[in-house]
Amino acid sequence: MRWWHIDDVLPVEDELFGAERWTAGMFWSELAGADRWYLVALDGDELLGYAGLCVYPDSAWVQNIAVRRSAQGTGLGSRLLDALLAEAAHRGAPQVALEVAADNPVARHLYERRGFAVTGVRRGYYQPSGTDALVMIKEDL
Ligand SMILES: CC(C)(COP(=O)(O)OP(=O)(O)OC[C@H]1O[C@@H](n2cnc3c(N)ncnc32)[C@H](O)[C@@H]1OP(=O)(O)O)[C@@H](O)C(=O)NCCC(=O)NCCS
Repeated sequence: MRWWHIDDVLPVEDELFGAERWTAGMFWSELAGADRWYLVALDGDELLGYAGLCVYPDSAWVQNIAVRRSAQGTGLGSRLLDALLAEAAHRGAPQVALEVAADNPVARHLYERRGFAVTGVRRGYYQPSGTDALVMIKEDL
């Protein structure tokens, strides 16, 4: 992902996350970090999905994965996650963690299929909805 993709990312954020969508400023900030790695999935000029990773010396975090509704269920989310896991391994991360909304079984299934296990709960993590977040970790990259 580069800065010029942000205008196409924002409507997808709106479509998928509503009031909890990220702002342009948040994406600009993410793209400025050397410890961040973001990618987009394109069909020609059309942006179908995107995903981001944050890699610290002792751990890595999946920042987000999103596939626009019209392209869901076609394997794109799995491919984006595989790319993040490969990059985390490439950067030497010993494990990868993420937060996922407790009421999001599709995403949870995606992560479990790739070896993530639930290790904790953050109560009321997502705002303004107050939805709990499950913390999931994959130990072996
Ligand atoms: C979660 C998300 C990224 C998955 O992307 P995707 O491209 O639809 O996923 P895939 O096509 O790779 O499918 C992954 C698995 O989920 C299953 N799946 C996909 N959509 C599904 C649906 N609507 N209902 C049930 N299962 C579904 C697939 O069958 C597949 O399972 P399998 O590996 O056992 O065959 C996508 O649904 C999305 O963007 N959701 C909204 C944003 C979101 O929740 N992001 C995650 C935040 S933590």
